[in-house]
Amino acid sequence: MTESHRVRIFDTTLRDGEQAAGINLNKEEKLRIALQLAKMNVDIIEAGFPAASPGDFEAVKLIAGTVKGPVIAGLARTRKEDIRAAAEAVRCAEKGRIHTFIATSPIHMEFKLKMTPEQVLEEVRQAVTYARSLVEDVEFSAEDGSRSDPAFLAEVFRAAADCGASTLNIPDTVGYAVPEEFGAFVQAVIEATDRPGVTWSVHCHNDLGMAVANSLAAVRAGARQVECTVNGLGERAGNASLEEVVMGLRTRRDSYGCETSLDTTKLWGVSSMVSRMTGFPVPPNKAVVGSNAFAHEAGIHQHGVLCNRATYEIMNPEDVGAPGSRLVLGKHSGKHAFRQRVEEMGFSLSEEKITEAMALFKTLCDRKEIVTSEDLEAMINSEILAAAESRRIVLKTFLVQVGRGHGTATV
Ligand code: KIV
Ligand code: ZN
Repeated sequence: MTESHRVRIFDTTLRDGEQAAGINLNKEEKLRIALQLAKMNVDIIEAGFPAASPGDFEAVKLIAGTVKGPVIAGLARTRKEDIRAAAEAVRCAEKGRIHTFIATSPIHMEFKLKMTPEQVLEEVRQAVTYARSLVEDVEFSAEDGSRSDPAFLAEVFRAAADCGASTLNIPDTVGYAVPEEFGAFVQAVIEATDRPGVTWSVHCHNDLGMAVANSLAAVRAGARQVECTVNGLGERAGNASLEEVVMGLRTRRDSYGCETSLDTTKLWGVSSMVSRMTGFPVPPNKAVVGSNAFAHEAGIHQHGVLCNRATYEIMNPEDVGAPGSRLVLGKHSGKHAFRQRVEEMGFSLSEEKITEAMALFKTLCDRKEIVTSEDLEAMINSEILAAAESRRIVLKTFLVQVGRGHGTATV
């Protein structure tokens, strides 16, 4: 795959992800996550917002000085003191980046910034020029880009590129975009900006559940950096989920014609680690990394998977580091999966006994929400296997002796 088809993964779990209400990581926890992200080969780690707090500054500095491989980015508003703090925090990085941003939509400029478009344009020029005087690698983001006037946006991006920004990011800050429209918008802005040397990036929020779809539509339109977070963590409804973007590009490479450099076998482990450390559980039905992502309960599906996994699985669990496909026994399960489970448990039952056991099992499923393997084993032992000799394990005698010194047990 050529460089022009490579999509860079910009992970912002430690910055936008940590902005999710209820998440607060200390610098050691952030470092542990950053080390795993580096092992997974993400291209850029946005380690934090150095001017936001002394803790954030210290975390970015620690990550910049320790984590090798990816670019380490620090976020900064266009203010000089923010840019200085970001530059200082990433100073020791093997590859450091300042990511500076200002809003460009009419509503943000008028009500939040209280600035005219001309003032915003001037602010961009000054900020990018100053950032470039401190580091080589500068990214500029137009906050609320998707709700900005495309002609003004192109003017702002041209100014940023001409002052030395090499990555230009179009955020859908409020998750308002829809894929077809956003793809066309990104393409129009790229064309109107007309700066072929830059890397185009997108940063999509998930307020309407379309962050991943919007990010992928942008890739089709020419974006070659996607900003995302592990488990889709982030402000409000979160950001585009890293694992979904990466597996979307990989699984549908036939459609997007692009790839990332990620070691996807690390996705499951990183997702679990981030979930544990943030205290945000991964929903069972979450795409790619949910515990049900490779679980099949319906009999028809289970039969299909037993014949050929690809009948109902479009990804291999091992490709994302998942423990493997699971056939979950429940009231929708069929005989094929039931027989397989019973055999895996070590029972050898006749067809007649299997039918009998399955009927009992379904009655149990109606009474009990979760039927475990232990329930099934107990049911087979007590209700199906009448004759002792056909039991899998029979306890004939046992002897337990305790006293001074070693105790002994004989089974
Ligand atoms: O959502 C957003 O616009 C951001 C920017 C700082 C890139 O997080
Ligand atoms: Zn954001």
